[in-house]
Amino acid sequence: MSITSSNLPSKAEVESFARGFSCHLGKPLGKGSFGKVYQIHPRIQGPSGSFALKVGDIDSLTIERDIFRHIQQNGNYCKYLVQGLGYLETPSFGALKLSTLSNAQNLERYYLASNRTITVSDYKRISKAALKALQYLHRRGIAHKDLKPNNIIVSPGRSGVRKALLIDLGHAQNQFAHESRPNPSNPLYSSPQAIVDLAQSDPFKADIYALGAVLWEIIAKEPLFVFPEEESCPQNPSEDYLLSNEGKELALSCLGGRRSLKSQEQLDMLGKNYGLDDLVFEEAESWDQHPYYKEFAIETKDAVTPFLQRLIAIEEKERQSAAEALEIFPALEKTTDRLERTKRQVFTQLQVQETARGGFLSQILPSCELKDIVFAAVCCLLLSLCTQALQEA
Ligand SMILES: Nc1ncnc2c1ncn2[C@@H]1O[C@H](COP(=O)(O)OP(=O)(O)O)[C@@H](O)[C@H]1O
Ligand SMILES: [Mg+2]
Repeated sequence: MSITSSNLPSKAEVESFARGFSCHLGKPLGKGSFGKVYQIHPRIQGPSGSFALKVGDIDSLTIERDIFRHIQQNGNYCKYLVQGLGYLETPSFGALKLSTLSNAQNLERYYLASNRTITVSDYKRISKAALKALQYLHRRGIAHKDLKPNNIIVSPGRSGVRKALLIDLGHAQNQFAHESRPNPSNPLYSSPQAIVDLAQSDPFKADIYALGAVLWEIIAKEPLFVFPEEESCPQNPSEDYLLSNEGKELALSCLGGRRSLKSQEQLDMLGKNYGLDDLVFEEAESWDQHPYYKEFAIETKDAVTPFLQRLIAIEEKERQSAAEALEIFPALEKTTDRLERTKRQVFTQLQVQETARGGFLSQILPSCELKDIVFAAVCCLLLSLCTQALQEA
């Protein structure tokens, strides 16, 4: 549902919600499809600082409220995920009280709508926070399902981002709930599998892909899908487009790894099926050729690319889980921005993971040729031992 002035609460209604939470109303923080978000301040100033108040459509807000209830059942909370702190309702509108960050800005505004470039330490902080929040949700069987730049907020400080928070559980879903939507909420951040068949796709792996697409976008300052004209991106993709069967086939062949099938003609057709013109998909291999990426820092590129590629892996089984992707951070954290060392540690870490996945034999025998040589050597040794034993007998 898109917001119009008739389905938005009046200022007096918003103020009365704020009073209901013993707060007074502050500045607007943002708006979305459900209504608006405001800052609110406790009437009696305590150590808790300010909060956010999400006010609007009851149906969307109660879905979000129920998700908060579900994930908070066991008491502990995740400092990288927005917290639901209360819910109020009138016959026409609902209001959620949420945790927030000081001077919060979403990634869309902070990086994409500005000429600010991301630093390595901000990049690490944001990636880690988002992965921790996803790990927390995924462990509780909840997929976020709407990861995009305006659903991550940051608190800017003098020397960069101080904190980052994953927000907006308006599309989040329990893994066992029936998928009610025909299409993903935003094709820019949808995994190939979610585009082709949302109900059959792995919702957790789709979250990881979406995060990879967001991280890519804040480095490259353009999305993985590129729209030559801004207006060709539908305002509300979930309502504006629906893939035909032919379109799904094509999406699968274009995005599903069989890249040889991709031609401009096919891309045009895919674009048509999305209701988009001239859709371009950037292949993972071409990322490091991207002009912005080249500038980002030559050393950083080597540290960042393998990490990002594991998030945006086309095949679900090759895409890492939040927990696996987080394993990279202890290595990154030991150094600040000493990139040469960081790079070495990251590579060592990744190689260790690679080997661990290959099973016991491939850990001790890294290549096939070496395996054969060792096998032959063991046979020779056994043979000579047998011969010796026979001679002695
Ligand atoms: N807890 C919060 N703290 C600060 N800003 C917020 C918070 N929640 C939402 N916002 C701002 O409001 C915008 C819309 O809120 P969001 O929850 O994402 O709504 P929607 O479901 O419509 O996308 C966000 O992009 C963000 O800029
Ligand atoms: Mg949002």
